Amino acid sequence: MLAIIGGTGLSEIPGLEILRRHGCETPLGSASAPVLQGRLQDREMLFLARHGQPRRLPPHRINYRANLWALRQAGASRVVGINAVGGIDPTLRTGALVVPDQLIDYTHGREATYFDGRFKPLAHIDFTHPYDAALRQALLAAGARAGESPVAGGVYACTQGPRLETAAEIARLARDGATLVGMTGMPEAALARELALPYASLALVVNSAAGIGEGEIAMADVEAALEAAIVRARGVIEALLLA
Ligand code: HPA
Repeated sequence: MLAIIGGTGLSEIPGLEILRRHGCETPLGSASAPVLQGRLQDREMLFLARHGQPRRLPPHRINYRANLWALRQAGASRVVGINAVGGIDPTLRTGALVVPDQLIDYTHGREATYFDGRFKPLAHIDFTHPYDAALRQALLAAGARAGESPVAGGVYACTQGPRLETAAEIARLARDGATLVGMTGMPEAALARELALPYASLALVVNSAAGIGEGEIAMADVEAALEAAIVRARGVIEALLLA
């Protein structure tokens, strides 16, 4: 069953007929919200609001381990994370939809593994290609069917937040090879891999990263861009569900 982790701006899916609400509790603590099992376009899917419903959790306080665990417990067989991002590559302007193929993790202090020697014995996953290739291709094809042209590939830098970056930090991320920046892509992607759940991200560019565009980043502009992008992201998800 396809599971969607909705990011900022996507805390519910309009039109989703709720069949079941799974509990939040997991052996790793509480997920951000109940996992909703529902029907959309005659297909069953799962949905989880990453920041809680209503939205309350900043990126560094999200229990990513509980979230992925709860999705798997509810029957997820593949997971798409929706992530609002800033564009570092100047060609990735506000409004671009991107299916990244790589990431760099700059976060700290997050519970980032199940294999910590307490919950599960120590183990090392391969993470050469952090996103599932087949699910990425399915997302790109769904995007095309939805009348979008998502950008195939990008390097997602995950910062700690909740503040936005300095211009110098973004310049460093650009030198590192990052093309997008967000706060919630990790450890989500790695935890999905640890659970052997195919995972991909649909990144919505809602602003130019600090120092890339002109002037400072105005939250009112970000919110307007997010509202517009979410409608299009929902179209891509529906197309993916119907595939
Ligand atoms: N930086 C980090 N996270 C973000 C941004 C950004 O510019 N825009 C949306 N999420």
